[in-house]
Amino acid sequence: MYNFKIKSIVHDYGVQFIDDTQGVLLKELKEGDVIIIDNKIKELYKDLLQPVLDLYWHIGIDASEKVKSYQGVMPIIESLIDNGFRKNHRLIAIGGGITQDATAFIASIMYRGVDWYFFPTSLLAQGDSCIGSKTSINFNQYKNQLGGFYPPNQIFINLEFLDTLSLWDLKSGMGEMCHYFIVSGEEDFTRFKNEYAQALTDKKVLAGIINRSLEIKKGYIERDEFDKNERLVFNYGHSFGHAIESLTNYRIPHGIAVSYGMDMANFVSVKLGYIDNSVRQNIRELLKQVWEGTSITDISLDKFTVALSKDKKNVGKTLGLILNKGYGKIFKDLRPMDEQFVGWLNEYFTNELN
Ligand SMILES: NC(=O)c1ccc[n+]([C@@H]2O[C@H](COP(=O)([O-])OP(=O)(O)OC[C@H]3O[C@@H](n4cnc5c(N)ncnc54)[C@H](O)[C@@H]3O)[C@@H](O)[C@H]2O)c1
Ligand SMILES: [Zn+2]
Repeated sequence: MYNFKIKSIVHDYGVQFIDDTQGVLLKELKEGDVIIIDNKIKELYKDLLQPVLDLYWHIGIDASEKVKSYQGVMPIIESLIDNGFRKNHRLIAIGGGITQDATAFIASIMYRGVDWYFFPTSLLAQGDSCIGSKTSINFNQYKNQLGGFYPPNQIFINLEFLDTLSLWDLKSGMGEMCHYFIVSGEEDFTRFKNEYAQALTDKKVLAGIINRSLEIKKGYIERDEFDKNERLVFNYGHSFGHAIESLTNYRIPHGIAVSYGMDMANFVSVKLGYIDNSVRQNIRELLKQVWEGTSITDISLDKFTVALSKDKKNVGKTLGLILNKGYGKIFKDLRPMDEQFVGWLNEYFTNELN
């Protein structure tokens, strides 16, 4: 099983693949620790978790974006303070990216920082968000506006949790991991493409993909933890993806929206002569498998351009896009939102979504 360390400016932390979640929890937890758990996981894994929940106090949360807000974290903080949670106690998050973000945000601000452990249960959290130390909550309707960098002290990954994940959340995790493999290079992308179908049914193959995804991300976050330079390329597919997520009211899960987003970035890259159409088509063959069964044809071009113009990476009125000059050559490009660019988007929405 895989086991490695991540260097962080905040504090180094470890990632360990495990197969006995109950045993690890019983061994690692100490008096005073509090578990913050996705209610769905609590219900689905009752038998496995009950011996632990009997011994340690826990707070169940409904994993919706609403939890990731001031209003959402307030009752959790209130309950921690009311029940004697102290600086030397730890928070134990069990759930997907939402449980992670809410717990990490609370851990980072409570008593100027308390230790926390993370047991990711979604593929997106296992193969991507669990490392990298970002903590985010939403503000009003705007996503991930508030937060900082505060990694857990230890991450325990058990792929058995994925048995109960919906096909859409599984595909979302695959789509999200895919962008690391394209950023890494042709060899990694080809491996991902070849193993995609098998990974959905074979845990050994999937574990290899998750481990490689984290390994690629690790290289970047250790060099640019605070997302100022090299790490920015991981926004590949995300400017377009975030616009798709918000304009479909999050009906399209993050990693699937990012898959459409990567194809849009590649489409623009072909238009600009950065890559050959054959590269785009080779990647699209894989991306189509991720998004197949979903539709985004109801998005209006006008709303899409407005959403794109709000992206965090923009500089003034210029779009900060992450584009493609080939496998392993993803880069940040500044593009005006001019008639030509809007024309390309129009062409994409008219011809490329079937
Ligand atoms: N901090 C970061 O670096 C980072 C990176 C990427 C995404 N995110 C955030 O993560 C969130 C998306 O992550 P996510 O997709 O894991 O969200 P999530 O926590 O909402 O999980 C997705 C859905 O799957 C359910 N679920 C989780 N594990 C399950 C399991 N084992 N079996 C059955 N159902 C399960 C959840 O209840 C939820 O309905 C977003 O809020 C995004 O902003 C954070
Ligand atoms: Zn993402």
